[in-house]
Order: sequence, then structure tokens, then C-alpha cells
Amino acid sequence: MSKDPGRVLIFDTTLRDGEQSPGASLNLEEKLAIAHQLARLGVDVIEAGFPFASPGDFKAVNRIAEVVGGENGPIICGLARASKNDIKTCYESLCPAPRKRIHTFIATSDIHLKHKLKKTRKDVLSIVPEMVNYAKSFLDDVEFSCEDASRSDPDFLYEIIELAISAGATTINIPDTVGFSTPNEFGELIDNINKNVSNIDEAVLSVHGHNDLGLAVANFLESVKYGARQLECTINGIGERAGNASLEELVMALHVRRGFFNKFFGRNQDSPTPLTAIRTEEITKTSRLVSNLTGMNVQPNKAIVGANAFAHESGIHQDGVLKNRLTYEIIDAKTIGLSDNKISLGKLSGRSAVRARLEEMGYDLSREDLNEAFARFKELADRKREITDRDLEAIVSEQVQLPESKFQLKLVQVSCGNNSKPTATVTLLDTEELTEETAVSLGTGPVDAVCEALNSLANVPNELIEFSVKSVTEGIDALGEVTIRIRNKGKIYSGHSADTDVVVAAANAYVNALNRLVFSEKKNSLHPQFDGINKSIRRSSKSNK
Ligand code: KIV
Ligand code: ZN
Repeated sequence: MSKDPGRVLIFDTTLRDGEQSPGASLNLEEKLAIAHQLARLGVDVIEAGFPFASPGDFKAVNRIAEVVGGENGPIICGLARASKNDIKTCYESLCPAPRKRIHTFIATSDIHLKHKLKKTRKDVLSIVPEMVNYAKSFLDDVEFSCEDASRSDPDFLYEIIELAISAGATTINIPDTVGFSTPNEFGELIDNINKNVSNIDEAVLSVHGHNDLGLAVANFLESVKYGARQLECTINGIGERAGNASLEELVMALHVRRGFFNKFFGRNQDSPTPLTAIRTEEITKTSRLVSNLTGMNVQPNKAIVGANAFAHESGIHQDGVLKNRLTYEIIDAKTIGLSDNKISLGKLSGRSAVRARLEEMGYDLSREDLNEAFARFKELADRKREITDRDLEAIVSEQVQLPESKFQLKLVQVSCGNNSKPTATVTLLDTEELTEETAVSLGTGPVDAVCEALNSLANVPNELIEFSVKSVTEGIDALGEVTIRIRNKGKIYSGHSADTDVVVAAANAYVNALNRLVFSEKKNSLHPQFDGINKSIRRSSKSNK
């Protein structure tokens, strides 16, 4: 049996695999805000990125390693393909973290070897020990993944895993890269790895999976029964294509059904000891932060964090819950930190009250950030009678989107109505060209007119593919949250903003999406999985070890 830490380790890959979701790219400040929140949530490992991808990705991992890890904090991990340059760059970016891990991988399925890597099994048999050994020359904590493991020949897989462990891998990760497996098959695969790899007791067995058939969480829970002790997952289940296994669903399944899972950990059925180290009360806040910053809305019926997950619509259910919550609720909303959105602040609240509330909510802002948050709070309080926690969250998450922005919206004004043509006037500051220009455009509606005017000024080709508005809280003066997604050269970029005026929110969200597009074009990141190592070693390290 593989090494057993006695509980499940939660490996969060929101900032790496999650950020690979179409339109979810994040800037440095946003990555830092999420990493800090993941540390508060209590994840064991943060996969902070793929440092070789671009100097921007290197810097983000490096900064997270510097400020988020800590002696008792999460392990900071970076992804590296099985190549010396990737591994060395990964180590260099992780360097400041007291607890760090290199996660290196190579595909093991014939389909990937033949069509993607153009390598033979023999090649892979020699690359794996060499690269794990190389990673090991930098640090002790080395994870090795067999990409597309669930579609690999099992005997070849066992051989590769054995070699990786002999070379020093301390965690072996089994990805269901294309979300092809079923729970039975995945559990059996983990069972067979435990039975057929002679040195498996020297490593922790980990699983990683995508949700193409909607089975990722079920696959993981089955694998736990057979000894998987690290789960690689993302907040809100974001990730490539249909996403990754969702952290909150896994954690809450292990929490609510502890009585069922305890026996697989050699515990008594009624043992109260948690199966993960996650502080469940931080789940809602983490989910909202990730959704706000990535612009990836959470579907209302999503388990645990969807807006309807704790709403009882039918009279029979409402009646039952009022008599006894347990009739229709298996989770107390407070367990995941879902408060009643109680009114906290108003127009007369001072700066220290705002700071205290933000601190209670887990936001530890610098002096300048607090000044800015307070100014935005005052501005909002002039228009909105009661400021709730959700409003404050919207203010803070908007603030972290601002750095690295080429365009800044200076003015937006619209005129529309049933007897007039919607007309928008916008002024846009270009912080690189140091120009400020104004345009006036007509549109089919006020938002269309605003987008037309912004496009005529920004001059960045794009196609608007999604526009959605929802209210942050209830009431006529609620903040309207707008998410916009635009496409350029097949890539999607999202923008998000909240304001009591939805047209202003739409304009800011559009500018935000344009900024991401411009930033991403400059960044020109390398994708870890769609590029053969031979072709893509174009950013080699300064010196060779
Ligand atoms: O899905 C996958 O196989 C991956 C690996 C790089 C672990 O993300
Ligand atoms: Zn993946």
C-alpha cells in the first residue's frame, strides 16, 4: 500500500490547471489574492503555476513562494515538463518558499506518445528516472505525474511508476487527463497500482482528473477507498474544458460522509477527526473570490457553492426545513461560511469599521489598498443604503484586477429610452500611449453602444461572446455584477465588474476584458500540455546545472 498520511491531502491547482480554463487568465495581484485565500482555506499544497511558461508565470510563482508559503503554510508547487530547463526554471521560481515541491510530468499513453510527443515507450523509460533524479538534485519533495494514466497500458504504467519512485519521487500522481474513466475503473486502477508496484509504499498516491463526463469527483472518491491520499482539485471545479474535480465537492463529501469513509483510513466509523485539513467555513468566500477574479460564474445549481445550493423553493420543503432543518438539508450553511449576508456597514461607517469588517472577512489590506477600498466604499455608500459583506467582496476583488492595465475608463455616459437611439459617450485613458480620447457611438442598446465606443478607441480586434448581469444582493439599489467574455484569435478573455449602475459595470467589465487580452498577447504563455518539449525549449535557463 502507498504511503498513508492518515488523511486526505488537498492539492489545489486552481492557479495552474484552473487558470488553463478558457478566459480565466489572472494577473499577478489576482493570483496572490487567491493564493492567500487558499492558505486561509487550509489546502496542503498550492500548485501556483507553470514557471517555464513565461516570465510573468515565473514571477507569479516566485512571488507566491515568497509571501504565501511560510513554515506552517501550504507547500508551494510548480509544474515542469520532464525536461531539464523546465525543472531548473521551476526550482528557481520556487526558491523562496520554505516548503516547496517540483511537479514534473510526461505522458504515458500510447496515443500521447505517438501523436503528441513522438516518442517511444523506451524513450519515456529513460526520461522519467533521469528527470526525477534531476528534480531531486534541487529538493526532496518531487511529484511525478503520468499524464493520461487512465488510458495508458497498465503494465507500462507500473514500470514507469516504479522507476519514478526509485529515482526519488515522493508523490505519484495518476491523472485522468481527458476525464474518460468511470468510478469503478478508476478505483481499480489505484488498487492495481498499489498491488503491482513493488516500491509503492515509499510514495503518496495522488489523483488528478477532469470532468468531461461529469465523473471527476465520483472517480476521486472511489480512488480514496483504494488508497489515494492526495486529491488534485480546483475551486469551483474550473479547469481545462469541462474543468477539474471540484475542491468544495470533494471536501464536503468527505466531511458530510465521514462515517462512510472513515473505515478506509482504519478509523472507527464514528471517528470525528476530519479527513482533510480544510477550514470549511472559508469555502464560500474562496469560491466567490475565484469566480469574481476569473470571471467564471458559478452555475446556480452547482453543489455546495451554487446560489441555489441552500435555497428551498417548494412550499413542502420550506415547511419541512422550518420544522427541522434535517428534513431537507444535509449541510448547515454556516459550515461552508455562508452567512445571512447580514447588513454590516452604512454611509456613516468610518474607516476603522470598514477595516475591521474586512479583517473579519479575512482581507488583510495594505495601507494604500485600504485607502482605495475605503474610497470605493464611500462612493458606494452614497448610492446604496446598506453595504453588505458581498458588496465589500465585490469592492476588494475589483481592486486586485486593476494593476497591469493598459486601458482605464475615465467616463461613461449613455442616453437611451423608448423613443431614442441608444447613444454612448466614453473616454478612455491609454496608460502606455499616455493618451486620453473620447468617442460617441450608437448601438442597439446602451451596453452595445458603450462597447462600440470602447472598441473604436481601444482598437483591439475582438468579438463579444457573452454578456451576463446578476445582482450581488437583493433590493433596488443592489450592485449589478457584469461578466463579459470576448474572443480574439480563438482565445477567450473575461472581464468582471460590479456597480449600482449596470451600464458602468458593463463598461468597466469590457475594459477589464480588453486589458486581459492585451496583457495575454504580451505574455505569450506556453501551454504545458499541448507543446512537445523538443519544439518548445525556447526559454532556456541562464546556466546549466
Ligand atoms: O490533466 C493532466 O494530466 C494534468 C497533468 C499535467 C498533471 O494536468
Ligand atoms: Zn489536468
